[in-house]
Amino acid sequence: MLLNDQEPQLLRDYLVRRGWIDESEPITTLEKPGEGNMNYTLRVSTPIRTLIIKQARGYVEKYPTIVAPAERAVIEGYFYEAVQSVPMLAEQMPQLMGLDPENNILVLEDLGQAPDYTTLYQPGQLLSDDEQAVLTDYLANLHHHFAVVTPTPVFSNKAMRALNHEHLFVYPFLVDNGFDLDTVQPGLQELAMSYKTDSALKTAAQRLGDVYLADGPTLLHGDYYPGSWLHTDAGPKIIDPEFCFYGPPEYDLGVFVAHLQLANQPDKMAERVLALYREKAPVDDSLRQQFTAVEVMRRLIGLAQLPLHLSLGQKAQLLIDARKVFV
Ligand SMILES: Nc1ncnc2c1ncn2[C@@H]1O[C@H](COP(=O)(O)OP(=O)(O)OP(=O)(O)O)[C@@H](O)[C@H]1O
Ligand SMILES: [Mg+2]
Repeated sequence: MLLNDQEPQLLRDYLVRRGWIDESEPITTLEKPGEGNMNYTLRVSTPIRTLIIKQARGYVEKYPTIVAPAERAVIEGYFYEAVQSVPMLAEQMPQLMGLDPENNILVLEDLGQAPDYTTLYQPGQLLSDDEQAVLTDYLANLHHHFAVVTPTPVFSNKAMRALNHEHLFVYPFLVDNGFDLDTVQPGLQELAMSYKTDSALKTAAQRLGDVYLADGPTLLHGDYYPGSWLHTDAGPKIIDPEFCFYGPPEYDLGVFVAHLQLANQPDKMAERVLALYREKAPVDDSLRQQFTAVEVMRRLIGLAQLPLHLSLGQKAQLLIDARKVFV
């Protein structure tokens, strides 16, 4: 079964067969619910409900030449299943309505026409105190409730980690990776070059990359940035745990803080987030800073670019600060 918005009848038959809608239930509309790069996602509306249906294919939807493990949808589904045991976490995420491992499809509760938080990168946007608290509590609770001695094999997610590892720790630091950063912003390629030719930095990134690839003590969301947070009437909700794995909590927290920097939030906000987190769980702040630094660098000089509103000068300063973390 390949999801396709051009074939509503096939989709309806499939949903009926799986028992996710009734036999008599027509599909009234099919639409793309929001921006996504990795997967094929649709909002299915019928007269009595709406559902979000998400399929992973063996490649990245937006860049079909990039191979990606199709089982990521199943692993994402297992994450949703796992958090059911912790009400605070389940409440912060859509309900899992169905999972079809054979077709790498998951069906989620529709949280409505909620934009994600990538608007935060626009000038003048600030996360409120409540939003900061919800987003921090979610992480602290996730890391606390799913801390184990021996990681669950199902969440090993090695292939997704390998893919992300490439984009975090390798690709941004390659002198010649075929991506002209001047197409993002004139002058960015030259700015990036001093980091791409910095062999001490490359070694440090490689060492941190090994930490990322090694299993760690707790379940992580794995992609904790504004694109994974939806702005609903009931506050921020968290989606898209397809990069989850058992790793160091400093990874999720480091990524979170990196995006506060990329969204030009006041330094005090990151300090508050870290303080709130530390009330619930310990943090190795040196490791956290390293993950923050690499995430900042890869978002500025790697492939996974964001709708940032930063001048070249602001990017240069963020890169300098990130580089300082690796002495
Ligand atoms: N449960 C939901 N309720 C409402 N909207 C949703 C829901 N799940 C996803 N969406 C919408 O669909 C978009 C894409 O979903 P999602 O981020 O899970 O896909 P993705 O392909 O994994 O994206 P990415 O490439 O950013 O990882 C979201 O940004 C959001 O707008
Ligand atoms: Mg995703």
